Amino acid sequence: MDIGAVRSDFPSIRSGKGIYLDSACQTLRPDCVIRAMDEYYSEYPACGGRSVHSMASRVSSEIDEAREKLASFFGTDDPSCYCFTLNATQALNTAAYGLGLGKGDVVVTTDSEHNSNHVPWLRLAETAGISRRMTRSKPDGEFDIDSFIDCMKGDVKAVSVQHASNVTGCTVPVKAVCDIAHDKGAVVIVDGAQAAPHRRVDLERIGADIYCMSMHKMLGPSGMGVMYGRMEVLEKLRPLSLGGGTVGLATYDSSNLAPVPERFEAGLQNYAGIIGTRAALDYLSRIGMDEVERWDRELLTRAMNGLEDVGNLHIVGPSDPARRNGILSFNIDGLGSHDIAMMADSMAGIMIRSGMHCAHPFYVARGIDGSARASTYVYNSPEEIDTLVSTVRHIAEVFGNRAQDLLLPVRQLEPSGELRVRHEVAVGRVHPDGMVSHGEAARLRWQYVPSRERYLVDAGGLEGVQHPGHVPGQGIAHPRPPPFLPGGCRGHRRGQHHRAADAQDRPGHRELDHDALTATHSLPSTATVSSTSTAPPSSIVSGPSSLMGGLSMTTRPVCTPSE
Ligand code: ALA
Repeated sequence: MDIGAVRSDFPSIRSGKGIYLDSACQTLRPDCVIRAMDEYYSEYPACGGRSVHSMASRVSSEIDEAREKLASFFGTDDPSCYCFTLNATQALNTAAYGLGLGKGDVVVTTDSEHNSNHVPWLRLAETAGISRRMTRSKPDGEFDIDSFIDCMKGDVKAVSVQHASNVTGCTVPVKAVCDIAHDKGAVVIVDGAQAAPHRRVDLERIGADIYCMSMHKMLGPSGMGVMYGRMEVLEKLRPLSLGGGTVGLATYDSSNLAPVPERFEAGLQNYAGIIGTRAALDYLSRIGMDEVERWDRELLTRAMNGLEDVGNLHIVGPSDPARRNGILSFNIDGLGSHDIAMMADSMAGIMIRSGMHCAHPFYVARGIDGSARASTYVYNSPEEIDTLVSTVRHIAEVFGNRAQDLLLPVRQLEPSGELRVRHEVAVGRVHPDGMVSHGEAARLRWQYVPSRERYLVDAGGLEGVQHPGHVPGQGIAHPRPPPFLPGGCRGHRRGQHHRAADAQDRPGHRELDHDALTATHSLPSTATVSSTSTAPPSSIVSGPSSLMGGLSMTTRPVCTPSE
């Protein structure tokens, strides 16, 4: 693969938008995908499968071609087995609800599923009385076939497993799973969202009854998914939504379903998305999925080798890069995952994801509150990986573990709704007596960390600053993560910083404006912070109220600045 040529196909790379390592969430798009969608909107922005005029006919034939492309890309014969959906989530919901399972029907999943292949089953247990079993993963997150065989004892109606984990990258041997499940007469659904973009997937060979994927994870448009199904399974599956396009004929009293796949595509569709999907698959075909897999592996190997000796960094999942589908999840002692992500972005323009990655049960079961996650794709270069390595190493060494609890919450919401501010300072040397002093006239940029309700010193602002006595590993103080931070599926969203549960817990909860809270402040050289790791927060001496800039809020230092 000519990485230079590939990179030049992506406008967001050409324009230097940063180092994108969040492809497990969604990928960047090449020119050809954007062009195909643009062409649809500019030249034939009509509906498909309905009107018979020329524009609409062109849309209809593009849809047919997209299905044909899907069939050849995934090694199957019948294009009608591919139904367009919003995303893998909608495809998985269609499959789960469409099987018509009822009381006592057993469904087997793994213990590492994405919420999209977990919550629907949870709901069906509550509403329809299905019975759930979960395979137990090995300690490094790998699928355990013995545990699976154990779960398959007795009558099992359906098996629904991920093909690859979006946290560890671990792959489930789906062909073996299908063989075992089919022997027992169970239907197999596979969540292919993280596997289909990163490896050759031969659906004929795997033999899954239903296979779900998201096109926005494989260079395609946002909000585009595909549900593949074996025809005899799709013909029995109940559609999740009904309406225009899903029926043959409806009278006042009855309707009959349209053929597969149309019966699963209710209402006007995302035609630009379907057309862009085909362009994305064409692009990936030109590179070749074996090459895509090889490239991910090479990049991950480089990243993991580079970080191997960082003592306070812990990889979540297997240590073999070849097992990880381009996904590197990790934690750094003493830092929250959102903090790592924000620092990587502000220090080096590296975009990674943080939190629980919509795989909450995986984290909850392990008692960890999330992880930072860098995920690669065809357009990432070895140089970008080197920058990731040096940046993460720097974050770990400077901000990681040994720093004590010095950077405290800067605001506290009283039950009355009053916002109190504790101004905190965090740079400098931890003296043997527990005193901390910051650098002379250090100009620090403080950033609000919504998920933590804390400010974080922007490391970018630290780069050129000499901090007398700065000791790597002790430089920046930072609070330890709270015992358990559920994190949101969506991480931080401006104007919606706190989860509903948080808001309920806090009477008088008030949202703060993120932009207003991000400012450059000057710390007077006399400000010092006293702290010991054992000191309760209220005994920590704060810096000046000017830290809060021009914000209009009630500020009241917790203690007076030390001399
Ligand atoms: N499931 C997507 C991810 O892993 C959103 O980021």
